[in-house]
Amino acid sequence: MGLLDLSGKLSADPRIQGWLDELNAITDEPPGLTRTFLSPALGRAKRVVAGWMRDAGLDVFEDQAGNLIGRRDCGNPEAGTVACGSHIDSVRNAGRFDGPMGVVAGILAMDRISKSGLKLPYHVEIVAFADEEGVRFQTTYLGSRFYIDHLGELEKAVADAEGVTVGQAIAAHVPEFPSPPARELAGYVEAHIEQGPVLEKKNLALGVVTAIAGQTRARVVVRGKAGHAGTTPMTMRRDALAGAAECVLLVEKMGAAAKGLVATVGQIDVRTPASNVIPGEVQFTIDIRHADNAERQRFCRSLFAEIEKSLHARKLESRIQIPLAAPAAKCSPRLCDRLAEVVEARQGSCPRLVSGAGHDAVALAEVTEVVMLFVRCRDGLSHHPEEFASNEDIALAVDTLADFLANFPLSENA
Ligand code: HGY
Ligand code: MN
Ligand code: MN
Repeated sequence: MGLLDLSGKLSADPRIQGWLDELNAITDEPPGLTRTFLSPALGRAKRVVAGWMRDAGLDVFEDQAGNLIGRRDCGNPEAGTVACGSHIDSVRNAGRFDGPMGVVAGILAMDRISKSGLKLPYHVEIVAFADEEGVRFQTTYLGSRFYIDHLGELEKAVADAEGVTVGQAIAAHVPEFPSPPARELAGYVEAHIEQGPVLEKKNLALGVVTAIAGQTRARVVVRGKAGHAGTTPMTMRRDALAGAAECVLLVEKMGAAAKGLVATVGQIDVRTPASNVIPGEVQFTIDIRHADNAERQRFCRSLFAEIEKSLHARKLESRIQIPLAAPAAKCSPRLCDRLAEVVEARQGSCPRLVSGAGHDAVALAEVTEVVMLFVRCRDGLSHHPEEFASNEDIALAVDTLADFLANFPLSENA
């Protein structure tokens, strides 16, 4: 099959679980796994991944945003670069596969290609992106957007809880590895756990992603009036938390009524919380996803109007900020067909899925053709410490990725 057929003996490489276990122990908030943008744990994880990249015969680089890049140069400065990777930051109390599995699979795939001695007509970069989840800044794809030089002034101005902006955090970062050479991207492939139940239901290990849902992340600030919990009559209160609670149920009710859409309040913070004080100010987040951008935007407009109406009825002030509005991304039909062929050669059939979760491929799709390889995960569970994908399934993904990267179908105008 093409330049190099790697569908030889398939062994579940012990490094798969060993490396993922090692990364799982590198956290900012023990005992759970939490690794956020440019945090100390992210720095420690980066150094470990850099060692694996080097052992796989890759030259290691790091850009100003902390993205780690393992590059195999093909010797022709005019050649395009095929990128492959995922993120090594995590959500809070995360599972060990969401992100790192795609980085580990990419490195092991390149290790196999390096050891085969195959010369490729294009450069390959395995990338460990520094921020996809957006936990620190409530944004997402900061790493991959920096990697494609699409990080705009608006995103750079977003501040974290300490008031540090994205731009300041990046400027203050001191990379530990040389900065990467310029690149002309010829395509991007990402292996990632499905984070859903479809592959498990079909009893198949791998699938190909045809599109990735768009997402809006909003932050709602609700202001009422703090007061004494013991002396303020119920009829004389402007309770910001009670108002926010009504909005949380509104998000759930309207989200459930909107076909193909999901809406979640994942974070709610009471400013100066105390059990005997009526909450004066509350902030909560809303995460809204849909495969169709117009549908998502229409839903946001009607939800925000209902939220403002319900808070106004309680004489509460509200401010709705939108730190992130990421459009849905289509994967390259050409690359999907090619990757599906490689999967079918290994498991007989290849389901094609839409991803409800966001991925770095959304950012890369702004500048090049992208495709994603999904790997079955137990009960579809993710963003949870019990997230699980088997060694065998990941080994099949490594084998598939190695074959795909070794025979990457450059586009005619490459
Ligand atoms: O939230 C997501 O969709 C992804 O896990 N960043
Ligand atoms: Mn995630
Ligand atoms: Mn992810």
